Amino acid sequence: MLLNLPRRVKLVDVGPRDGLQNEKQPVPAAIKIELVHRLQAAGLKEIEVTSFVSPKWVPQMADNAQVMSGIARGEGVRYSVLTPNMKGFESALLSKPDEVVVFGAASEAFSQKNINCSIAESIERFAPVVKAARDAGMAVRGAMSCTVGCPYEGDVAPERVAYLAGLMKSIGIQRVDVADTIGVGTPRKVQAAMEATLKHYALNDVSGHFHDTYGQALANTLASLEMGVWNFQSSIAGLGGCPYAKGATGNVATEDVVYMMQGMGIDTGIDLDALVDAGAFISQALGRQPNSLVARAVLNKRAG
Ligand code: HMG
Ligand code: MG
Repeated sequence: MLLNLPRRVKLVDVGPRDGLQNEKQPVPAAIKIELVHRLQAAGLKEIEVTSFVSPKWVPQMADNAQVMSGIARGEGVRYSVLTPNMKGFESALLSKPDEVVVFGAASEAFSQKNINCSIAESIERFAPVVKAARDAGMAVRGAMSCTVGCPYEGDVAPERVAYLAGLMKSIGIQRVDVADTIGVGTPRKVQAAMEATLKHYALNDVSGHFHDTYGQALANTLASLEMGVWNFQSSIAGLGGCPYAKGATGNVATEDVVYMMQGMGIDTGIDLDALVDAGAFISQALGRQPNSLVARAVLNKRAG
């Protein structure tokens, strides 16, 4: 018997950013904007839109400002963007996001590969971003990559996660994501990473960001729910992956998370049918089927 599960969850759809950053083929800004519109129409209240990173490192996100300026913003919707340093923050500021996301890693090797600096250096780069964002009235989130496993170092100990969470807290980052970047986590390991994070952050300020590479993301979501975690990140149509984490596939599909929550009587505020349409839209634009079993089942059922 699962007792005392949260009665509602908040989902951040990271598809436009985490999902599309990994696409080799260029995706026109108009398609990205339409995707954001469809996500908000389906009831998403938080959308990670893009990142202000080096276009040499991630060419797909080079249209960041264009995408941000094309969005007809919905009432009560929070739009977030990734900003790894002050240069990224200064560009992002012009687009007036509601939240900026700095992104660090629990493993040294991944920090170097992804943002070209050590964990300690990353915190030095994030600190002025956090201060400037807070001064500008924006929220600040910290993504913590490789909290369970690293593509370069293997298993990552919970102590490394606690260390990073403590550093993030010390510079004023308001909430953090416990990310399983390469989707290797299983429920007990993810719970250990969550527990390490909870040494520094309150339950309300911790979210789960699970890639589904090994098919464990829903199990890891449930394991987090059991701890009272109620903020999760997912990606429409299961898009995603990190260009600096080889072999990492998409985030858990938003459609799959919403279906599971609905079945458990947990409120998401999201309309599953409209969500499936949004996933079908972007999948068609990319020339493939949605990477979500729920989406495929719903589409097959509709087709009769
Ligand atoms: P660097 O080369 O060390 O930066 O890159 P630098 O400060 O030495 O500058 C080098 C050049 O980059 C300069 O240009 C800068 O102006 C430019 P140049 O003089 O050569 O023409 N530059 C920038 N341009 C645009 N925007 C910026 C910026 N900063 C410098 N913000 C840097 C350091 C962080 C920029 C680079 O490593 C980078 O862009 N990394 C991004 C990697 C990335 O986006 N990864 C994917 C997102 S993280 C993720 O997916 C994981 C997550 O989903 C959670 C999970 O699943 O784990 C969040
Ligand atoms: Mg990710």
